[in-house]
Amino acid sequence: MNASEWWRTAVIYQIYPRSFADSTGDGIGDLNGITSRLDALHELGVDAVWLSPFYTSPQHDAGYDVANYCDVDPLFGTLADFDRLLAAAHARDIRVIVDLVPNHSSNEHEWFKAALASAPGSPERARYIFRDGKGKDGSEPPNNWQSVFGGPMWTRITEADGAPGQWYLHIFDVSQPDFDWCNDEVRAEFRRILRFWLDRGVDGFRVDVAHGLIKAPGLPDYTPPPVAAGSMGDGVAACPPYWGQDGVHEIYRDWRVLADEYPGARIFCAEAWVDPLSFAAKWVRPDEMHQAFNFAYLSTPWEAGALRVVIDESIAAFSGVSAPATWVLSNHDVVRHATRLSLTGKNLQGDGIGPRSPGIPRYEDGLRRARAATLLMLALPGSVYLFQGEELGLPEDVELPDAARQDPTWFRTHGERYGRDGCRVPLPWESEGPSYGFGPTAASWLPQPRLWAQLARDQQTGRDDSTLTLYQRALRIRRARNLGGGELTWVRGCGRSAVAFTNGTLTVLANTGGAPISLLPLLSGSHVLITSSPTVGSTVPPDTTVWLAKR
Ligand code: GLC
Repeated sequence: MNASEWWRTAVIYQIYPRSFADSTGDGIGDLNGITSRLDALHELGVDAVWLSPFYTSPQHDAGYDVANYCDVDPLFGTLADFDRLLAAAHARDIRVIVDLVPNHSSNEHEWFKAALASAPGSPERARYIFRDGKGKDGSEPPNNWQSVFGGPMWTRITEADGAPGQWYLHIFDVSQPDFDWCNDEVRAEFRRILRFWLDRGVDGFRVDVAHGLIKAPGLPDYTPPPVAAGSMGDGVAACPPYWGQDGVHEIYRDWRVLADEYPGARIFCAEAWVDPLSFAAKWVRPDEMHQAFNFAYLSTPWEAGALRVVIDESIAAFSGVSAPATWVLSNHDVVRHATRLSLTGKNLQGDGIGPRSPGIPRYEDGLRRARAATLLMLALPGSVYLFQGEELGLPEDVELPDAARQDPTWFRTHGERYGRDGCRVPLPWESEGPSYGFGPTAASWLPQPRLWAQLARDQQTGRDDSTLTLYQRALRIRRARNLGGGELTWVRGCGRSAVAFTNGTLTVLANTGGAPISLLPLLSGSHVLITSSPTVGSTVPPDTTVWLAKR
């Protein structure tokens, strides 16, 4: 493998800037906070970080509503702070990927303000998706599409003369109008934005909603199958006219040519909630993006049979287009896997959980399973994304008071869906500090649970049994043995509840069942390198993963 293709095996750590580290004490994390904590990420052993949006934004969707793509929101700092962060990360051999949000802007973007101030049919309107309404007086939305965050996907505007006007499309919140990607001005503007960040030295982009940019011609009505309601990935089988349209691919081919002009392999990672995996693989054909989050894997329950199938399908689908599989278990949109994998109540992606949700596991049980799931994931060939705080074993915060919630999903569904705040609670760094070391004051944009005191990084550093130490060791072994660049071969005969395979010199066994599994068949000539929870003699207890190596 070409050594410059760092992304094929990289472990990439997602930083959610508003919740990572706060340098000013206003309760919102910022770029200088990140810079001040980079050593912790270096010690963890990650190859790169992905920063969720820190651009100028009214923050109606935590920065995924961008008003200026080429500047830093004062909440997070300045461009000079960004340059310092980038240099400090590079000095530690940590690459930096930024978030690109091309599907929609903020309604406070200059272009959208100009569109509102201009007439129907004007070039200013043509950068977004404005349509006349249906029915008498155009008072009904142009079609029946429902926003991912709940409610209609269209909002009617008032024209400059005060009359009820056209409607604009927003797949997400009303504050996030969708661009019209059939418009050349939009395409040119995003080439400029890409160059702006590439010229500054970023190593790549995570591309937000990479399956949504092109809508089916004519914007036909669509009724999703009931099971997909509220989901972001209702899948290709259902063919929603706003997801996964073929036209998105020429956009990424164009971007790839542009990024390839730059030295050092600058990459794109697609956030494309589509299935099946063979369809997702289209985003990473050799002339398109480099990585696509493996959401099929993220969505797989902790069940050996299902895991074996999704791992096989992933490797087949992505290697079929010469791309790495890009494993992920948690991010800022899903219930943290220390809770999710043990939930017994039904929970659709994006719905979130809270005090009234059924089937929430005990923390210890959820953590045990999450550690096993992580150790399984980190043994797989390909690239891996981690979400900040998972290395501390943070669970979803299920006790957030309703009054503290900020996710637009919560508001747009009038509290029917909790939304994603529970995975976004600011990190604990020091058990004794105000805001558990998140910042210099007690301020925290979401309240932190008391459990954070015991999970704070300083409590886990150097402790043999901590989740932080487990991640550090696993990442060290993963790198030393080049597991990311390895090849998976199944080991049969360990039982239905086992996920067992070799990757190079390593043998891995994960027990997803309720009964112990004997290690004896695998032990001859091997020894245990690392386990997610203590093994008992030569058996692997339930919810445990073991890595073995030849003596
Ligand atoms: C992506 C982001 C999510 C955001 C949405 C709209 O799915 O990950 O946080 O709300 O896009 O930009």
